Amino acid sequence: MSSHFDSTALEQELAKILPPQRYQHSVAVGETCVRLQHQYQEKFDEQELYQCGLMHDIARDWKVSALTQFAEEHHLSLEKEERDFAVLLHAPVGAALLEERGFPKQLCIAVRYHTIGSIHMGRMGLVLYIADYIEPNRMHLDDGDRASLLGEPTLEALCIRILEAESMHLRSKGKEITHSGLALRTLLKEGGRL
Ligand SMILES: [Fe+2]
Ligand SMILES: [Fe+2]
Repeated sequence: MSSHFDSTALEQELAKILPPQRYQHSVAVGETCVRLQHQYQEKFDEQELYQCGLMHDIARDWKVSALTQFAEEHHLSLEKEERDFAVLLHAPVGAALLEERGFPKQLCIAVRYHTIGSIHMGRMGLVLYIADYIEPNRMHLDDGDRASLLGEPTLEALCIRILEAESMHLRSKGKEITHSGLALRTLLKEGGRL
């Protein structure tokens, strides 16, 4: 089932509720998802894929207390890291909000795992995870880094590069990649696909 939502209406809604930078990021992630689909010849409904990127951070600016309360009230199933670091809750909370509104299941699952990465995130989740990391407004990459990542032959190879970069970045701060992200990296390195 493709999305029956109107992208322009969703953009207008987000423009009202998100801070300008987050809105800009959201549109760019949607556009980057579509760009990745063209480059890697994926076959998603383009509108649905764009909306997945557009809506992925819908709950990103909620207060931690609101995220925690929502997660408790809706009995959301959470990963350990999401309990420990509540800002990550914007992914499962955002997914639950979109599910309640009737967005397609694969879109909701992609949003669900966009922060930590997961073997359960599906192929749309793979595209979203990558797009969230490489979209042009992200200052942690320069044009050379971006071009190098986009030179990878497959989405899987590109995702491994991102997971490794994330892992190194976290380690430099004395932290570790999530269990979920680690399992994803292992699966992809063994040649697995989503
Ligand atoms: Fe996010
Ligand atoms: Fe994001």
